[in-house]
Amino acid sequence: SDNLNSVVERKLFSEAEIADTCKRLGSELTAAYAGKRPIVVGALKGAVFFLTDLFREMDVKADLDFIDVSSYNGGTESTGKIVVEHDLSKDVKDRDVLIVEDIVDTGLTLQFMKDLLLKRGAKSVKCAVLLDKKARRTVDIEPEFVGYECPNEFVIGYGMDFDGLYRNLPYVGVLKPSEYQN
Ligand code: PRP
Ligand code: MN
Ligand code: MG
Repeated sequence: SDNLNSVVERKLFSEAEIADTCKRLGSELTAAYAGKRPIVVGALKGAVFFLTDLFREMDVKADLDFIDVSSYNGGTESTGKIVVEHDLSKDVKDRDVLIVEDIVDTGLTLQFMKDLLLKRGAKSVKCAVLLDKKARRTVDIEPEFVGYECPNEFVIGYGMDFDGLYRNLPYVGVLKPSEYQN
């Protein structure tokens, strides 16, 4: 079937649940950045959906920017080498930066971005993430603002892809193993 729902084994987080979580995190961020003017940085491409929902729940004067970093994959396992594919347009020196991510898995992507922005002189770098897949972490890094702990399964939707597809599924679901096991 060409229907996006047909590759989903089960729904994990519904559109309504995600909307509630964006409200909850938005309140936390409104309090955390009160009186400041952070740069909100979306990590392309997965974070775009979460970013637009979360940002509208933040009652804070803030700038918006994007960065695209990617890990070079040597086959199925990540090599751990990460490069900047598309850089920020803003200077982060002496700025408070909030990175928005859809998911933290091994933590390598977040660690790379955090190190990069701190090296450029950011005053603070924190991260808001929808899904924290703690079981897969290989580096010692914890996002400060977390929507949900994520089970150690292949998740798609709400920005998250499998081989470039399914980002536009409006909820978060578990991909059917038959879709990636040949
Ligand atoms: C995915 C996801 C996170 C990152 C998490 O991005 O959106 O950014 O992987 O993985 P890690 O914690 O193991 O580094 P991906 O690099 O697939 O790019 P995309 O956002 O364009 O899908
Ligand atoms: Mn990503
Ligand atoms: Mg991806």
